[in-house]
Amino acid sequence: MIRLLPMDRSLVDEVAALEQEISHSPWSVDMFLEEMRLGGWLKVMVSGERTLAGYAVARSLFDEWHLLTLGVVPEFRRRGVGSALVASLLQERVGKPEQRVVLEVRSSNVAARALYQRLGFVSVGVRRGYYRLGPVGPEDALVMIHSEGVGNGKLDMEKIFLA
Ligand SMILES: CC(C)(COP(=O)(O)OP(=O)(O)OC[C@H]1O[C@@H](n2cnc3c(N)ncnc32)[C@H](O)[C@@H]1OP(=O)(O)O)[C@@H](O)C(=O)NCCC(=O)NCCS
Repeated sequence: MIRLLPMDRSLVDEVAALEQEISHSPWSVDMFLEEMRLGGWLKVMVSGERTLAGYAVARSLFDEWHLLTLGVVPEFRRRGVGSALVASLLQERVGKPEQRVVLEVRSSNVAARALYQRLGFVSVGVRRGYYRLGPVGPEDALVMIHSEGVGNGKLDMEKIFLA
């Protein structure tokens, strides 16, 4: 069974090692710890006792949540883990329709873009050359938001399942 838990210190080294492996601009252990110290939103999905399947970090500022980083262990992909992490962030806003969730995603990141789109995010802009490093050199970021009144804005839990 795969469960959602708050990220605690015991999993940070493993999460940061996974970031190194799967992200072109990875967060360090210190960055995760600092976000924890600031009281940020840090979650993990674990399988069985404590096998890491994925993680996500977000920060809330006034009426906006920023999804800062998200990753899924390659062996756990296409099983709904990424969707479940993002969906749990979207659920933080239940009863607060004024809040929106914002994120940046590499324009070449087909998988993440498809996931966000499927959950109701829409692209609202482009930041040119936002990512300085990457497989193809500097790369644009798409800015996507999830908000009532933009796109479908509603979280359809039927689209989220864990295989
Ligand atoms: C992007 C990422 C988080 C997706 O996690 P995941 O757990 O595999 O995602 P899900 O299983 O919830 O996928 C949900 C939907 O997203 C889309 N999707 C996910 N991976 C995809 C891929 N490789 N290609 C195309 N669409 C994809 C599909 O529509 C998928 O639904 P389906 O499996 O029924 O077709 C994962 O690939 C990852 O960790 N990538 C590296 C880090 C990264 O890019 N993070 C995001 C930074 S913005």
